[in-house]
Amino acid sequence: MTKKKPITERVFSGMQPTGSLHLGNYLGAMINWIEMQKTRECIYCVVDLHAITVWQDPAELRQSIRQVTAAYIAAGLDPKKSIVFNQSQVAAHAELAWVFNCVARLGWLNRMTQFKEKAGKDREQASVGLYAYPNLMAADILAYRATHVPVGEDQKQHLELARDIAQKFNNDFKTSIEALGHPDGIFFPQPEPVITGPATRVMSLRDGTKKMSKSDPSDLSRINLTDDADAIATKIRKAKTDPEPLPSDEKGFEGRPEAENLVGIYAALTHRTVESVLTDFGGQQFSTFKKALAEVATDRLGRIGDETRRLMAEPGYIDHVLADGAARARAIATPIMDQVKDIVGLLRS
Ligand code: TYM
Repeated sequence: MTKKKPITERVFSGMQPTGSLHLGNYLGAMINWIEMQKTRECIYCVVDLHAITVWQDPAELRQSIRQVTAAYIAAGLDPKKSIVFNQSQVAAHAELAWVFNCVARLGWLNRMTQFKEKAGKDREQASVGLYAYPNLMAADILAYRATHVPVGEDQKQHLELARDIAQKFNNDFKTSIEALGHPDGIFFPQPEPVITGPATRVMSLRDGTKKMSKSDPSDLSRINLTDDADAIATKIRKAKTDPEPLPSDEKGFEGRPEAENLVGIYAALTHRTVESVLTDFGGQQFSTFKKALAEVATDRLGRIGDETRRLMAEPGYIDHVLADGAARARAIATPIMDQVKDIVGLLRS
């Protein structure tokens, strides 16, 4: 058997095309994606198969896939450098997810807090896909044997599961993996979560104890990457706060989650530390701070929104990016999936 090359560094991450992206997606994950593409091989996916784990109107889903792709590019992803594509165009994701459905244990999935939150009280009515969502996520990453996964804080548990799946697969099929030419018995790497930056958990503008989320029924709770300057200013003006002025240091955030969130957002948008923002704004009223925050948010996000709209007027270009990205993604994932089939004992022609 020939000796296989060692696993090289590769970045993978994705976002769901369920409506427009928001500030949490941008600050929690995307700014790291953009940074990482400067130095590493990166694969960025629009995870449309994950989106359909809850009901999606087909026409709106098509529109959302293009819109999220446009937002990726508008925010700074370079589709020539990074691989940008939608998940359903590369069959290896669904194929490997099935293998992982047979590797992951029910007990592991039963612990997933995001399933419990999303399924709500009526768990019997949740789709089987929603339950198996984390297995598909592990397949997304491992279909490329990716080593680094930049995400927000809320994905930590899913990534721990992906690591457990990788390890169990390597253990279960050790002999077969070695026979295939991997002398250390390791086929899948342990993907490392990259959860860094000042805003790994951006909170709702209406309730500082809840995560900013696409599924919050109140649009005032989040700033969308497609909001115009007026919408951004209104949402920040209406953001929940408390009657006290801003504290002069981080200890003063105790019991004040909304203040902490808004200052964290300001710091992330201006590439400053929370401490230095408080040096400027400590002791000031929220009305003054909110005006400054609206200005920096409009400046940064306004451009992304404008560029997204410009790109959306060129659906041919977006579809071309996705087709090209899918072909490049397939070129990496297909040989890996072939090896998985050999390891597991599935015949292929
Ligand atoms: P999604 O679309 O829910 O979130 C996309 C990314 O945005 C981050 N994020 C946040 N970060 C900070 N504050 C928030 N309020 C906030 N809300 C969302 C998420 O952590 C995520 O990084 N399951 C993934 C999609 C996925 C994936 C993958 C990611 C599917 N396969 C493989 C990495 C690798 C998700 O949460 O999508």
